[in-house]
Amino acid sequence: MDESTTEPEIVILPDAESVARVAATLIVASAEAAWSDEFSIALAGGDTPGLLYEILATEPYVSRIRWDRWRVWWGDERAVGPDAPESNYALARERLLQYVPISADRVHRIHGEKGAAVAARAYDTELHRHFGARLPLMDVVLLGIGEDGHIASLFPGSQALEEKNLAVVHSLAAHPPRERVTLTLPAINAARRVVFIVTGRNKAHALRAVIAADQEDAQQPPAALVRPENGYVHFIVDEAAGLFLTGVPARESPRTAHT
Ligand code: 6PG
Repeated sequence: MDESTTEPEIVILPDAESVARVAATLIVASAEAAWSDEFSIALAGGDTPGLLYEILATEPYVSRIRWDRWRVWWGDERAVGPDAPESNYALARERLLQYVPISADRVHRIHGEKGAAVAARAYDTELHRHFGARLPLMDVVLLGIGEDGHIASLFPGSQALEEKNLAVVHSLAAHPPRERVTLTLPAINAARRVVFIVTGRNKAHALRAVIAADQEDAQQPPAALVRPENGYVHFIVDEAAGLFLTGVPARESPRTAHT
């Protein structure tokens, strides 16, 4: 965890297992370094984070974590119920939450079964109930990157990506389940730390586009728009996803560490 600069840090690792382990170590270290006695993390959906969640639920991490201080949120959710196979909450429950001693009132599920618009308003209310009127100050926002460069449920060219004030909006995905609830870019960029976990050769082009993105480019992928005002960005990627990164003129000259 490099605190010396706010330039994005890129760590390229041999495989998905080492990505998950390094991400787990970074997240737990962030929690232990949190200056308050609360630690809020927004989890991601999709396939990549499952291994990370399993690792957080096992030793040595599970007993290092102060579960009585963690609050679990989501970066996005599909407009489905908590038991639907597409649910991002269900992914975290099956791979992490059911194994750890976190109280239910510290797990802030997005109620997708209410429909995306209603669920977005309810989640926005819950975020403000906890963080007050300002944008949510998440300690960590965990993100994957789609092959089109999307993050959470902020897709290229979407209305949701243009939101400048609200913390949460509903959005439409190009692929089912289409109705989504998502943190907005302002909410993601209010985070103290954004941790991208990206694996697989199918992400190599998207990741290169993100790292090499020109801030002036109106067409840059959503993931390239993640630039926390007062936060750190970490790209923890495997060699397959990082295939095109070596020698890439980085967007903010991130240091690329091969470990
Ligand atoms: C979702 C995720 C989404 C995901 C990317 C990458 O709800 O699907 O939040 O943004 O992180 O699509 O997904 P994979 O990890 O499956 O590649």
